[in-house]
Amino acid sequence: MSPPSRQSDPSIEYSEGSQIKTLLAILPYLWPTGRSDLKTRVIAALIALLFAKVITVVTPFSFKYAVDSLTNGGAAVSVYSLMLVPIFLVIAYGFGRVMMIVMTQIRDGLFAKVGQSAVRDLAIRTFNHMHRLSLRFHLERRTGGLTRVIERGTKGIDVILRFSLFNSFPTMIELTFVCGILAWNYGWIYAAITAVTVILYVGFTFLMTEWRIAIRRAMNEADTEANTKAVDSLLNYETVKYFGNEQHEADRFEVSMKKYEAAAVKTWTSLTVLNSGQALIFTIGMTICMILAAQSVEQGVLTVGDFVLINAFMIQLYLPLNFLGTVYRDIKQGLIDVETMFSLMDVSPDVQDVAGAKDLVVPNGDIEFDNVCFSYDPARDILKNVSFKVPAGSTTAIVGPSGAGKSTISRILYRFYNLASGEIRIDGQDIAKTTQGSLRAAIGMVPQDTVLFNDTILYNIGYGRPGASNEEIKEAAKMAQVHDFVLKLPEGYDALVGERGLKLSGGEKQRVAIARTILKAPPILILDEATSALDTLTEQEIQSALGMVSKDRTTLVIAHRLSTVVDADEILVLVAGEVVERGKHADLLDKQGVYADMWNRQLEADEARRLLAENQETGIIQPVVPQIR
Ligand SMILES: Nc1ncnc2c1ncn2[C@@H]1O[C@H](COP(=O)(O)OP(=O)(O)OP(=O)(O)O)[C@@H](O)[C@H]1O
Ligand SMILES: [Mg+2]
Repeated sequence: MSPPSRQSDPSIEYSEGSQIKTLLAILPYLWPTGRSDLKTRVIAALIALLFAKVITVVTPFSFKYAVDSLTNGGAAVSVYSLMLVPIFLVIAYGFGRVMMIVMTQIRDGLFAKVGQSAVRDLAIRTFNHMHRLSLRFHLERRTGGLTRVIERGTKGIDVILRFSLFNSFPTMIELTFVCGILAWNYGWIYAAITAVTVILYVGFTFLMTEWRIAIRRAMNEADTEANTKAVDSLLNYETVKYFGNEQHEADRFEVSMKKYEAAAVKTWTSLTVLNSGQALIFTIGMTICMILAAQSVEQGVLTVGDFVLINAFMIQLYLPLNFLGTVYRDIKQGLIDVETMFSLMDVSPDVQDVAGAKDLVVPNGDIEFDNVCFSYDPARDILKNVSFKVPAGSTTAIVGPSGAGKSTISRILYRFYNLASGEIRIDGQDIAKTTQGSLRAAIGMVPQDTVLFNDTILYNIGYGRPGASNEEIKEAAKMAQVHDFVLKLPEGYDALVGERGLKLSGGEKQRVAIARTILKAPPILILDEATSALDTLTEQEIQSALGMVSKDRTTLVIAHRLSTVVDADEILVLVAGEVVERGKHADLLDKQGVYADMWNRQLEADEARRLLAENQETGIIQPVVPQIR
């Protein structure tokens, strides 16, 4: 049997038979330490439960006496008592039933807070854990599947707590009560038949449910798969349209939905088998009891009221038992869901603070890469013996072909990954030995592709420093040249940016990202192609803004457009993970090496573009073929 998570989440360990462990891990939530209010609620709920059960068992007696007094009418002394007694008894019966329901409702109401507080607690813990896990984990994971696991897991906790406390346990109490009363009043045979019926019923239910759980797992698996595909497809809405692949997406989704359909149908048909079997077992037991009772009534040993009472007991017992099947299923399902969630919690982050990690202190902001080797996958080296220094306050540019490992340098400086070997030091401190929080607080990042939160522009810029005032946010926006643009929007700073920021243009998004980094005001700055999506004019404006921001900061610029880095204090040329050239712009040009080559090519391309634009303006239709070597 494969758990729902195995295919979609290869790193989640799942061990069969650890359900007792899971159950034990959940139990403390029933008795939360330090929450006397919740404990009081649990006790009050248990008292309400006990009341409900006592009333449940006592109420049928009023029914029996009502029937007896009605059927023995002839023996009654007066017409008055003939009518009064049964009516009173029937009212008592009605009252008993109402009380039973009221008590049950009080119990549920009292317990709601206990269950929900457990749900909240676990949801928050899992959420925090997800954020602690490494980038590697998240890149390998499908977000849709992950949120589902958390959603189902937290719900599972509530189900388990509620059902184990309010169904399995009370039903056992009721069964004991009923068997005791039957044995005491009508002889052991009735108690024995009832007990055997219930045992057979429970055994059958458990066996069948085991079989059904496998089916349920397949259904969950298909469900997660379909959901992941739908989320992924909708996230890629634009891409789907670019390639006109709606049909392809629909087909993929349909394959998953068909799997789900098949599994869901099987789940329902197996439920039919289960329900019919349950009904059969119980009805046989009850019928035997009723035949015995009927014979006894005929022989005059029992009254008609007794006959009715035995029937009432059994029917009453059937209600929670009928529910027990569902409960067992839901508890088992809940345990699976919770276990999947717990195993997610057991995944430990790749990147962890070492024992005794100290906070990074950045008095100056010197960065040093010392013989750094790195690979995402051991089979393929990405960075090979990269060494360089960025003295405090200076700007170093990294240039090189696509895929050379430029963005990777920024990621490892942020410590999203551990190094294979070598060291990265900031002001002399090995970043592998500092706390991740303090490290990340010291670095500002304008990433290559900015993703924004689906919220207002104000929120997205303010994200750079939670708690910043609106004035500060607007100030940052002005510096990043995004203020004027925002004022043009009908809703201004309250305009929503759409999912992942898709309602903004690439350049606007980048400027929002720059603004929020300006607001963070970190001592170290990384700009990854920070101005790649801008037109020349805006780019120049932003360059000046960035120049101001990076003036007293240690800055690492990753750039494709070499014109933006001519002023850098040092330029590193990275090719296939190796620094092949380094120096100032002029020196590198003199070298006539890789950099000079890249520079010339860009110049030619720029010149070609300029000529093309000019010719179009003057109306000369004469395409200029850019000479790119
Ligand atoms: N999470 C990852 N897992 C495995 N390989 C990765 C991962 N991220 C990047 N790579 C690989 O590492 C190499 C370097 O990637 P990187 O993003 O650093 O390139 P880059 O120099 O920034 O390129 P570009 O100029 O196109 O942005 C690429 O070949 C890429 O395929
Ligand atoms: Mg990159």
